[in-house]
Amino acid sequence: MSLFKWSSAHSVYLPEIDAEHRAIYLLGDELHKALLAGAGVAHLQPILVNLLESSEQHFRHEERLMRAVHYTACAWHKRQHDAARKRAKALAKRIEGGDIAAAGELLKFLSVWLRDHISVADRMMGARLRNYLRFNTALAS
Ligand SMILES: [Fe+2]
Ligand SMILES: [Fe+2]
Repeated sequence: MSLFKWSSAHSVYLPEIDAEHRAIYLLGDELHKALLAGAGVAHLQPILVNLLESSEQHFRHEERLMRAVHYTACAWHKRQHDAARKRAKALAKRIEGGDIAAAGELLKFLSVWLRDHISVADRMMGARLRNYLRFNTALAS
């Protein structure tokens, strides 16, 4: 069973954000497959670095967008990102040190965290951004 399968049920109705979520899911799936295939740390490491870097860029992108529209739940949303950053970093450190079991923990954590975070926090952010764009487009026309 795939832990990371993006579907339209995960959409937050912002194409740019959906594309970033899809890319993170693909990297999660790549890491999961490598782990199932019995890959060692040397093989897992570059995928892991890519996954963490893509997630970081994505979090920063969302945080920039939320600040730009003065989103009132921005701090609450960022706290969720920060908690995930902290947990993922700690697990990555263990993997780097040769603890392969930490890779399984990271994948389980990320798959649940992404599902929950996208379905509530990112969806709320998506609605706010779409309203903002609609309102400002109406004003400009
Ligand atoms: Fe988010
Ligand atoms: Fe997101």
